[in-house]
Amino acid sequence: MVLNQLEELASKASEDLGKINDSKDLEAWRVRFLGRKSSLTQILRLLASLPLEERRAVGARANEIKLTLETRLEEKKRELEVGSVVSVGLKSLDVTLPGKPLNIGRMHLTTQILEEICDILGGMGFQVAEGPDVEWDYYNFEALNMPTDHPARDMFATLWIDYEKEGDIRPMLLRTHTSPVQIRVMEKSKPPIRIIAPGRVYRYEATDATHEWMFHQVEGLAVDKNITMADLKGTLFEFARCLFGKDRKCRFRCDYFPFVEPGVEVAIDCFECGGTGCRLCGNSGWIEILGAGMVHPEVLRRVNIDPDVYSGFAFGIGVERIPLLRYGIDDIRLFYANDLRFLSQF
Ligand code: FA5
Repeated sequence: MVLNQLEELASKASEDLGKINDSKDLEAWRVRFLGRKSSLTQILRLLASLPLEERRAVGARANEIKLTLETRLEEKKRELEVGSVVSVGLKSLDVTLPGKPLNIGRMHLTTQILEEICDILGGMGFQVAEGPDVEWDYYNFEALNMPTDHPARDMFATLWIDYEKEGDIRPMLLRTHTSPVQIRVMEKSKPPIRIIAPGRVYRYEATDATHEWMFHQVEGLAVDKNITMADLKGTLFEFARCLFGKDRKCRFRCDYFPFVEPGVEVAIDCFECGGTGCRLCGNSGWIEILGAGMVHPEVLRRVNIDPDVYSGFAFGIGVERIPLLRYGIDDIRLFYANDLRFLSQF
C-alpha cells in the first residue's frame, strides 16, 4: 500500500519536472516533492512504525526514489542555467548582428589641400620652413620693403597686438601673410635656397564668399644665381597644371607687391560661370589664387644677399581658394563653420 503510494509519487514528480521551464517553478517542485513537509519525507519518518518486512522494502524504495529525485533536480538546475544564457544571447545579445559603425575622423579639407600643395612643390625640390603666427612688424612689413607709413601696408588689413616691456612698446601683430618667413629663412641661410612655408594668416577684414579673416597660405621662395621670371612662370604653371589639370585656364598678370619687382598675380577661370562673370568671381570671370614676383633687390640687400650676384622668385598661394575652385564650393566661410555635413564630404 505504501509502496503503491511511493510509485505514484515518483511518477507524478517526474511528470511535473518535465513541464518545468524556470527556476521559480523548480523550487516549488523541490519543496513539494523533497521538502520537509513532502509526502516522501513523511513516509520516511513513518518507517519506524511499520512492520519489519514492510519497513525494509518501503525504506529501500523510498531512499531510491529520494536519490533519483535529488539527482534529477540538480540536472534540471543546470539545464535551466544554460538555457538562460542562451536565451539572453538570443534576445538581447545577438552576436550575429553587424556592429555599430564608429565615426572615424578625417583630415580637414584645408589640411588635405595643404598636404597636396606641399607634395607637388616638395617634388620640385622645395623644403618646408616655418615661422611664427604672432610676428614682429619688422618681418611682416619693414624687412619686406614696407617701412612705417608705407601706403602698401593698407593692402594687408592688420590685427595688431603690440608688445610692451618695461614701458617700451614694440609693434607686434598676427602675420597677414607668410612672406615674413622669407626673411627669417634668408637671415639664417645662404643661396641656393628653395623653401615653402605653409601656415595660417590673419586679416582684419570683412568676410565674404571668397574672403575669410583667417586663412592659409603657402609661401614659396627660390634664390640662386641666374633665377629668372621664366623659372617663376614655369614653376607656377606646372603647379597649376598638377592641381587643376591641363584643361583649366590660368591667367598670369602684372600686380604690385612692394617686396617683389616685377610682381604678378595668378588666377584660374571661375568654375561657377566658366569665365563669363558671377557673384563668386566678382564678375571678373577669374579667381585669384596667388601673388608672386621676382624678389626685390632691396629685400635681398637687407638680409646680406648681394642682388648683383643672386636673384630669386617668391610666391604666396591662397590655400582655401584651391578647393573652392576644384570642388565648386561657393562660400569660403563654410571651411571654418565646423559643420560636419559640409566637412565630411571631403
Ligand atoms: C600676399 O599675401 C603676398 N604675400 C603674396 C606674395 C608672396 C606676393 C610672395 C609676392 C611674393 P595677397 O594679399 O594677394 O598677397 O594674398 C595672396 C593670396 O591669398 C591671394 O591670391 C588669395 O588667393 C589669398 N587670399 C588673400 N586674401 C584672402 C582672404 N581674405 N581669404 C582667403 N584667401 C585670401
